[in-house]
Amino acid sequence: MVEKNFLVIGSGVAGLTFAVKMAEKHPDRNVIIVTKGDEDESNTKYAQGGIAVVLDMEEDSFQKHIQDTLIAGDGLCDREVVEMVVKEGPQRLKELIAWEANFDLNSEGDFDLGKEGGHSEYRVVHHKDVTGYEVERALLQRVHQLPNIELLSHHFAIDLITDHHLNSKNDNDISCYGAYVLNQKNGEILTIKADNTLLASGGIGRVYGHTTNPIIATGDGIAMAYRAKAKIKDMEFIQFHPTALYNPEGGSYFLISEAVRGFGAYLRNKSGYRFMPDYDDRAELASRDIVSQSIDNELKKSGDSHVFLDCTHLDMVAFKKHFPNIYDKCKEYHIDVEKDWIPVVPASHYLCGGIVVDKQGKTSISNLYACGECSKTGLHGANRLASNSLLEALVYAHNIFKALSVDSQESRQLSIPDWNDEGTSIPKEHILIQHNLKELQALMRDYVGIVRSNKRLHKAITRLDLIYNEVEEFYKESKITTTLCELRNMVNVAHLIISQSLEQKENRGGYFNSDNI
Ligand code: FAD
Ligand code: SIN
Repeated sequence: MVEKNFLVIGSGVAGLTFAVKMAEKHPDRNVIIVTKGDEDESNTKYAQGGIAVVLDMEEDSFQKHIQDTLIAGDGLCDREVVEMVVKEGPQRLKELIAWEANFDLNSEGDFDLGKEGGHSEYRVVHHKDVTGYEVERALLQRVHQLPNIELLSHHFAIDLITDHHLNSKNDNDISCYGAYVLNQKNGEILTIKADNTLLASGGIGRVYGHTTNPIIATGDGIAMAYRAKAKIKDMEFIQFHPTALYNPEGGSYFLISEAVRGFGAYLRNKSGYRFMPDYDDRAELASRDIVSQSIDNELKKSGDSHVFLDCTHLDMVAFKKHFPNIYDKCKEYHIDVEKDWIPVVPASHYLCGGIVVDKQGKTSISNLYACGECSKTGLHGANRLASNSLLEALVYAHNIFKALSVDSQESRQLSIPDWNDEGTSIPKEHILIQHNLKELQALMRDYVGIVRSNKRLHKAITRLDLIYNEVEEFYKESKITTTLCELRNMVNVAHLIISQSLEQKENRGGYFNSDNI
């Protein structure tokens, strides 16, 4: 058994920021980070637009950012949380810069601020169009400088260790004692005991076949927390990003940042008509829920598979400087941004709900914290404002660090059983996993997309039940593998999305059910 003060599950912005802060301030305490892929693989790494922070106090103000966040969240944000996150932004950005993250400056030497949908001012700090890559690089660099952090890549957290594993029957006051973790290289299962555990395991994009998220985004942390009986909320609020590069083969969709629309690009249908002004006065810069729903409507009307993003009227010298990654990626697909319109389509991008936490990141389970995209803080309400996610993770990682700096506690003396895989064997039929995964993704795409209906949601739950039973049976008789656990977790997450969709009786933000009109 491995014993640590802090176990962090995930190495994106949320997990790494917490680990760095804790290890810097408390050299006498130790932190172990487990992460299931390469150490930098995360949604964070692919963040493009940037971090929303109020820096220009002449044009902008905290009040304006607060208001934009509340409007985007469509009445379901927690105002106190919004105020706290927005006001902490500048301080948290300063820390990132102290850890040597670089952000673009303009010719006057001030931050070059971008704009995205739903923002009334220019306030998005960025590193070209690869902000997340830069943030991840800087944080990992700092992690490797700190001797009291151990980072285990290719280690997959299977389940949280709670009272249930200690054979306690108390369902009212559940505690977390760490996690069982699979070494993905040799198949060994570690028992990691920790005084406090932080879930920083990111989003759920892969539950849908069409997503901007990388393959790690399978909702593992949310599924683990759900099985451990933590409170999970707002799972119906899936954010579909309006402009993913159309990929006729499905799977991963490369993102065309909203900052491109902030830079002046137009959305057009096949016949060249610029349709967004018909839907919202803010046109292409309406919040994401509105732009995605408008595109969905255009596609349903025309029967087309995609719309287009037109950048041909923009200053191409400036475009290439600001968006070199997007420019090059389009070129790879034989799209010359200077002359061609970019084919785009909405794709699943972000989960606004998740594991319910308080302002200190505490979940409903003792000694278990959650931070970043897997958590539900109250900041996003029914729809996240662009570039508020990296900000939220930075602010909450700090709050959790502060809470746990005060609450230093004695290590708990417990005997925790090792993982028991008696009676299981190495799965022979991997095809079953692939088949069920495809079926799950297809049903989420077809029945639980941008526009839902009660009939489709009921159909989805009936089909999901069949997949659930098959996967659970397979899981019970098989030795643990990453793909099997991920599938099981995605089935759990899909169940939460569908059942919470059925409970939502109002159309708000990213949730639209045609029976609620
Ligand atoms: P992640 O960065 O996803 O990290 C999760 C970590 O957990 C990963 O290391 C993963 O491997 C690990 N993990 C997961 N499950 C397990 C397990 N079972 N065991 C061990 N490890 C596990 N937001 C913005 O604010 N601004 C932007 O410009 C922006 N652009 C985006 C562009 C794209 C293409 C995408 C996909 C998202 C974007 N977002 C943006 C959203 C933002 O990037 C994410 O919400 C944020 O980075 C999430 O950070 P995180 O630390 O919570 O999770
Ligand atoms: C983007 O660059 O469009 C993504 C920004 C975000 O998800 O906040």
